[in-house]
Amino acid sequence: MKIIRAKDYNDMSRKAANIISAQVILKPDSVLGLATGSSPIGIYEQLIKWYNKGDVDFGGCTTFNLDEYRGLTPDHDQSYHYFMHKNFFDAVNVPAERINLPDGAQLDAERECKRYDAAIKAAGGIDLQLLGMGLNGHIGFNEPDEYFSKGTHCVNLTESTIEANKRFFASADDVPRQAYTMGVQTIMLARRIVLVVSGENKAETVREAFFGPVTPQVPASILQLHTDVSIVADEAALSKCGDLL
Ligand code: GLP
Repeated sequence: MKIIRAKDYNDMSRKAANIISAQVILKPDSVLGLATGSSPIGIYEQLIKWYNKGDVDFGGCTTFNLDEYRGLTPDHDQSYHYFMHKNFFDAVNVPAERINLPDGAQLDAERECKRYDAAIKAAGGIDLQLLGMGLNGHIGFNEPDEYFSKGTHCVNLTESTIEANKRFFASADDVPRQAYTMGVQTIMLARRIVLVVSGENKAETVREAFFGPVTPQVPASILQLHTDVSIVADEAALSKCGDLL
């Protein structure tokens, strides 16, 4: 596990965007695993700038997003479909037919999760998976649990995640209670992983996840066992790891 230290959110975003753009330059037909949340927005902004300058081309890429709220249609302004189009896809050239997200409008969970796993497999697996991390150490929507999940599945969101995500909705009552998410095993099968984390509110979780025991109670802790993972973290997020770095 590599820890890449960044000064602040902007520096974190540029460093992570550099890793992603190098991946796409070296392998133009990369399969990218993408993430939502506030952590990756700066990365997408940076990648769009480089795309506009002609420095990186996404025309050969295929993408798979980590997760989507169950019950939200793609045009709902809080769906991850909408987020990804607004923050990235509408500004770059990933071919529309090679953009993949779980379909929140498909309420048959078993069917949708099977379809998504099969699509990832058919694309040859994920070359680089981008991740954020929730306050409780969740990755994708894999919440703290008794065991690590395997493939794509439907989850009940925890109170802490509903609370953290309500800022994007009119009220906590409007936050969907379920989501489809790649499983921890799906994430671990990615050939390369880049996790970005910023801010003091996640400092304790960073310490637990990357320097504590590997446990499904802190889902991100399993990344310690991956052979090619880079954690790009800013000073605030690393502020409780001083003695360990
Ligand atoms: C959501 C997403 C996660 C994301 C997390 C952290 O729950 N499903 O993929 O990592 O939020 O979000 P933020 O980056 O806004 O802190």
